Amino acid sequence: MAGKTLVAYFSASGTTARVAQQVAGAVGADTYEIVADPRYTAADLDWQNKRSRSSLEMNDESCRPAIAGALPDMSGYDVVLLGFPIWWYKEPRIVDTFIEGIDLSGKRVVPFATSGGSGIGGAESHMKGLCPDALWQSGRLLNGGDAAAWARSVCA
Ligand SMILES: Cc1cc2nc3c(=O)[nH]c(=O)nc-3n(C[C@H](O)[C@H](O)[C@H](O)COP(=O)(O)O)c2cc1C
Repeated sequence: MAGKTLVAYFSASGTTARVAQQVAGAVGADTYEIVADPRYTAADLDWQNKRSRSSLEMNDESCRPAIAGALPDMSGYDVVLLGFPIWWYKEPRIVDTFIEGIDLSGKRVVPFATSGGSGIGGAESHMKGLCPDALWQSGRLLNGGDAAAWARSVCA
């Protein structure tokens, strides 16, 4: 896969961030961290509390949490490796803020995720529906396994 690559990722508690650094390091890609404004607290991430911030956001299809700072200039990139944790079988809503906030039309987008065990398929189909002009490629759940080898195979 030719072209300049950006690894864009959201990580609320560090797991996806570690994987994203391995992915980016393996292929020499630039990175962009999607940072929430305000950042998520431990209480925000309590999925057992129906009134926690993450529960309220995931129950609201139209919710688009704010991203801190500027979005990346996508004009120099052909490929985006997009990483996030699985929340309620999907991508966190702030990832929707990101993909709707930048121009991904005609760019190859390859998702990757970490989770407690759930797959990435629900996130992939949801994001394709939100952003049909991107060239979505099949993503990968990177719980353990060789993130660097996966990244090299995607960018070969
Ligand atoms: C609000 C919330 C919802 C989650 N929902 C799921 C889920 O549906 N399935 C799953 O396997 N793991 C779920 N998890 C676990 C995370 O996907 C997992 O811990 C992930 O590696 C965290 O990544 P991070 O440290 O980059 O934020 C959830 C975690 C949170 C905070």
